[in-house]
Amino acid sequence: MPTRWWQDTIIYQVYLRSFQDTNADGIGDLQGVIKRLDYVRDLGIDTVWISPHFDSPMDDNGYDVRDFCNVSPDYGTLDDFKALLSEAHARNMKIIIDMIVNHTSDEHPWFLAAKDPTHPDHTTFRDFYIWQPPRMNDQGNPERPTSWVSWFGGSTWTYNPPTNDYYLHIFSAKMPDLNWRNPAVRVAMKAVIQFWIDLGVDGFRLDASNHLEKNWDFPEANPGYEHFSNLPKHHEYLEELSRALFEPYDLLIIGEAGSASREEALRYAGYDSHEFNLLIHFEHCWADIDEANNVTPGKWAKGSVDVTKIKRSFAKWQQVFANQGWNVLYWHNHDQPRIVSHYGDDAIHHRRSALMLAYCLYLLPGTPIVYYGEEIGMTNVDYTDLSDFRDVEVFTEYGNFKQNGAHHETAMQALRDRCRDNARTPMQWDDSPHAGFSTATPWMKVNGNHSDINVKTQQKQPDSIWQTYKTLLHLRKHERLNHGKVTFYTLDHEQAFVYCVTGKTHDYLVIANFTDKPMRYPLDSLIKDYTLYVANVKNAQAKSPRFAPFEARIYRHQHNRTSSAMI
Ligand code: GLC
Ligand code: CA
Repeated sequence: MPTRWWQDTIIYQVYLRSFQDTNADGIGDLQGVIKRLDYVRDLGIDTVWISPHFDSPMDDNGYDVRDFCNVSPDYGTLDDFKALLSEAHARNMKIIIDMIVNHTSDEHPWFLAAKDPTHPDHTTFRDFYIWQPPRMNDQGNPERPTSWVSWFGGSTWTYNPPTNDYYLHIFSAKMPDLNWRNPAVRVAMKAVIQFWIDLGVDGFRLDASNHLEKNWDFPEANPGYEHFSNLPKHHEYLEELSRALFEPYDLLIIGEAGSASREEALRYAGYDSHEFNLLIHFEHCWADIDEANNVTPGKWAKGSVDVTKIKRSFAKWQQVFANQGWNVLYWHNHDQPRIVSHYGDDAIHHRRSALMLAYCLYLLPGTPIVYYGEEIGMTNVDYTDLSDFRDVEVFTEYGNFKQNGAHHETAMQALRDRCRDNARTPMQWDDSPHAGFSTATPWMKVNGNHSDINVKTQQKQPDSIWQTYKTLLHLRKHERLNHGKVTFYTLDHEQAFVYCVTGKTHDYLVIANFTDKPMRYPLDSLIKDYTLYVANVKNAQAKSPRFAPFEARIYRHQHNRTSSAMI
């Protein structure tokens, strides 16, 4: 297969609402992204993925779309969007957008018609959504059709009195699921996607794309995720989109399927697939869950990090896609905690652990996605009041924790450790009161550590996290590491993260202590032909088997075949 542009690119994910405000309303906007394009390009990045910019009541920060063909006034206008495209393209950069295909807002005109029997378009739109009559319980009283649980914590069903039935929403009640079995829905969604293609976007990240099909028998289950995730028929819908809209253009399509198997992943994103180009899975994301915790259960239960699980996941996916597809690399997105707080140490070893994490990821083959603020080691929130949080999920789950018997502080700590708001605070550009994000009070509180952790300071420090990202991303381009070949070592080792990758002129060997405990790692023959290239501690001993907490080293070795040409 000839190389496609997205195999050579590096992506930067911008959470629009929190990146850069330019009109002093405390909300990030499209002009803010334009303002920072040069910053992003300077880091060595050429593709920007922006989180949803559509008109929306913002129940889930824009993942609840009211008008698919318009820009939210919070973020600007359609002209601002066009300006973003042309400013990016003028710099040889690409823009990909989040496309929400699974649901709309309950304020979308389709749903307004669907829920109201007196609406003139009711019959046209009723079947755009998924309705079920109440189920009678043993006492003969009407109840929810099933006990399915939404991804945000409550029931997946909300009662609609005028029609005397329930609509399905696998996220919030303000996000009714579309009925993809209805051909009219598919026609309407294709028109929406075509609209953005015609404007000139370079690709899409298809939100919640593995949930498009539901089990229409609606069996009783709790939580019942298997009845609205990864069902065979959703592939048909994706393929229909791909053949009609994606393949005719040179677009990058990124799909999302949290727990895809090898076979499914190849079906989604193998070279001969007709669905996506890249697949985002979450396998490495929550490798620290304490299964015994049932007060703040599931992803909320922070346990100790299982390093072997993380390594095995990376090794597995490199192998799954070897010669058959292309890997996407990322530490986290807007749905997970900040990586340095999650797998590193945001207190004593902040810089060192952020660098260790960067070494472990950014020399691997594939297309990387850097999450905004990761390049300066932004951390989880320091919030002390429940009202500081913004995410719709937080409030349902806080209630659940209390019901499970959690004390207020336990619940707050679970939120600070695990909630999605951790990754959504305003970008820390400088140490001014609103961190250079805005001149007004931001929509969401800036992290108090912005006086230490910010772009401006780190740009002045030669060995900062920001400088390291810049160096590694440029090295990656220069050495064409996206196309490298990787070998992992000692996958069973409980502390070490070790791999070797081939670049254009050198081979690189990363040896990292992924933990906060000292580590002994026999180097022996491994480093025989290698010299130390860079390390995240001062005076690193190239030959020493002793690694300090989070110490990581990159060794390299010039290829014999190119060495004479290089001298
Ligand atoms: C995806 C998004 C998440 C959003 C959800 C509903 O999982 O990543 O942020 O809340 O879909 O659209
Ligand atoms: Ca603004």
